Amino acid sequence: MESLNLREKYINFFESKGHKQIPSAPVVPENDPSVLFNTAGMQPLVPYLLGEPHPYGKRLCDYQKCMRTNDLDEVGDVTHHTFFEMLGNWSLGDYFKKESITWSFEFLTKVLEIPLERLAVTVFKGNDIVSPDNESASIWKELGINEKRIKYLGEDDNWWPNMESTGPCGPDTEIFYFRSEDEIPEEFDTSDDRWVEIWNNVFMQYNHNEDGTFTELPQKNVDTGMGVERVTALLEGQTDNYTSSIWYDIIKTIEKVANLQYVGHEKEMRIIADHIRSAVFISADPAGIKPSNTDQGYILRRLIRRAIRYAKKLDIDINSDWEQQIALTIIEKNKKYYKELEENRDVVLEVLKTEKVKFNRTLEKGLKEFEKIIGKVNGKVLDKDNAFRLYDTFGFPIELTVELAKEMGIEVDVNGFKEKFKAHQELSRAGAKEKFKGGLASTGEVETQYHTATHLLNAALKVVVGPQVHQKGSNITHERMRFDFSCDHKLTDEEKQKAQDLVNEWIDKGYDVTKEEMKKEDAIKSGAECMFIERYPDIVTVYKIGDVSSELCGGPHVSNTSQIPHIKIKKEEAVSAGVRRIKAVFAE
Ligand code: ALA
Repeated sequence: MESLNLREKYINFFESKGHKQIPSAPVVPENDPSVLFNTAGMQPLVPYLLGEPHPYGKRLCDYQKCMRTNDLDEVGDVTHHTFFEMLGNWSLGDYFKKESITWSFEFLTKVLEIPLERLAVTVFKGNDIVSPDNESASIWKELGINEKRIKYLGEDDNWWPNMESTGPCGPDTEIFYFRSEDEIPEEFDTSDDRWVEIWNNVFMQYNHNEDGTFTELPQKNVDTGMGVERVTALLEGQTDNYTSSIWYDIIKTIEKVANLQYVGHEKEMRIIADHIRSAVFISADPAGIKPSNTDQGYILRRLIRRAIRYAKKLDIDINSDWEQQIALTIIEKNKKYYKELEENRDVVLEVLKTEKVKFNRTLEKGLKEFEKIIGKVNGKVLDKDNAFRLYDTFGFPIELTVELAKEMGIEVDVNGFKEKFKAHQELSRAGAKEKFKGGLASTGEVETQYHTATHLLNAALKVVVGPQVHQKGSNITHERMRFDFSCDHKLTDEEKQKAQDLVNEWIDKGYDVTKEEMKKEDAIKSGAECMFIERYPDIVTVYKIGDVSSELCGGPHVSNTSQIPHIKIKKEEAVSAGVRRIKAVFAE
């Protein structure tokens, strides 16, 4: 199927208007533990919207990997997806309403050749913070949009993200497309769902502070977002997103592995297509997410397990390589835009296979058990103990149990399940306590001090042992630091003493710790130390300590080395061939 090449057209257009294309940030946010996934193109840009200078300048554009999981269970209809791509262009304190609106109009009508009569817009009607957006309305009018096609709406519709979330925000103007063969009404009725929103231009000029107040940002920004899947489907004349060029090959592969037609099995095939696609993108992300029972890992697990259940409904042989074939189609289709899909292809295929084998082992038994339980349900509610058993023994995510039960008109005691789940987690946590604390499990003051000390130790070992020393791993707790490094021999007592002295000398010198964003290739050229180069995005943060250390790192760090106590090396031992480990603590 001929593709519209929306991404290329969009990027070329905005480059011609002086924008620089920035690479898509990972779908798992790098320094923002408050969200599991990037849900909009602007999310990785928050520091720059707040005023930090961006290394690529003031006019940016991209296509960004996004994931929205709040309506994961809605997937199966013609429009819902979990993973999607958002096209965005930004002005970081550069141009504002006039250029933004004019260029959106030009792109839609000239590049995409959308007829003017298919377009309508909304603008903000004003609130206590800002007056009605007559400026945007008159720009639209000048461009040729009829007054009857311009509607003023309030905070619920034309303020992004909303009035509750903290952070950069502002009024927006939204562009709608008439998606129907019906005669196009002269007047735009915002409640008529044949008008579909295609583009959102946010005038980000406020910050919503923690205390509830709104203050003006130091600069007036523009943040826009356009969904690739939706717009591609519209412009290709498809009423079902899954028959557009974005999904076509994926659905074809599913038809092949199921030996069935899409028509008549739409819901199942859409769910499989969407969920495997999301699983592919999550597991190819540099964050290295694996299926688990928490956070992103749990979403990944739910996606794969739900896809398997729908594959079973289509009588796909679960033990065949069906999921590998679908994943490979997805990788092939998208690797041109996201090179990590190709680079991490083996990881992706392994994740899918391992999770499938794990779930498949208990799925049959679990389904039998589920039927038994349902047969005995008293009234209309499946109790918490059985829901927990299905989870614990058969690996049924609670959402799966709820979905299965719903198909039989039965509810599940989800709150009861959650209590049981929490109690169970606390028990296993207490048992595992220190054992599972990874990298920087928690980042209190002491952990932050140890973290900076780790960078110093890394630099000191390069001086004492040689530049061939590189970090191989690190683990920090409140009580100690542990540092693994490449080295072909057991450190002598003299080497240990020298490394320790050097770190303590640098601590005493009171070096400033500074951070800088730069292009990955520039960081590498500058000689910055880095453990897994492929795990980093194209724009990286480099932490420098005086002129003794420079490392790619996400932080956090102390701001001056004088804030760190002296260290004492307690132990030096082998980890594996060519890798040594140092344990050190802060001296009393
Ligand atoms: N950030 C805006 C959105 O996601 C453009 O709609």
